[in-house]
Amino acid sequence: QAWEEGFVPSSLEELGQAVQGCRRCPLWRDATQGVCGEGPRRAKLMIVGEQPGDQEDLAGRPFVGPAGQVLDAVLEEAGIEREDVFVTNAVRHFKHEPRGKRRIHQTPTTSEITACRWWLNAERAFVKPKVILTLGGTAALGVLNRKVAVTKERGQPIGLSDATALLTVHPSYLLRIPDRAAAETERGRFVDDLKKVRSLL
Ligand code: URA
Repeated sequence: QAWEEGFVPSSLEELGQAVQGCRRCPLWRDATQGVCGEGPRRAKLMIVGEQPGDQEDLAGRPFVGPAGQVLDAVLEEAGIEREDVFVTNAVRHFKHEPRGKRRIHQTPTTSEITACRWWLNAERAFVKPKVILTLGGTAALGVLNRKVAVTKERGQPIGLSDATALLTVHPSYLLRIPDRAAAETERGRFVDDLKKVRSLL
């Protein structure tokens, strides 16, 4: 099977096809499709999110929904072109539960993140980014493979064997802050994190 341990994908395209057969964890059952990363094969920057959301699950592409719109705007503000970035997720399938007609996001478990790390590592091996920016706790755990407190480690470059990692919050967190002034402040911090990323490239 293409998603088993010994499989060596020959391209990112092959990886994106192989994920459709993934049975490493049960999340495939309720998802429309698996979603792999997209961007240049040799991007200097990899941005890792949590998992596809409702719209990403339907489109088969990462960060095309509301969180993606925040990410796009903030990237632009920090002077980073999205086309230059490899954008991906720690988990390949949309984890959700039905509520009426809506599909409500659920946070993936550590074992799901662990099962899915194989795909993320395969992408890292192809792209070999210089810098990896993780968005939120799931992404940080997926990339660092250890317990992480994002609020404590946020914004400090972390040396990995193959890249420099920088941790920040998830853009959907910004969308959930009810107070406008607080949301603006947090958005500013997020932009600052991306500017720091830019300085590391
Ligand atoms: N949130 C994520 O973490 N990833 C996506 O691709 C979309 C929303």
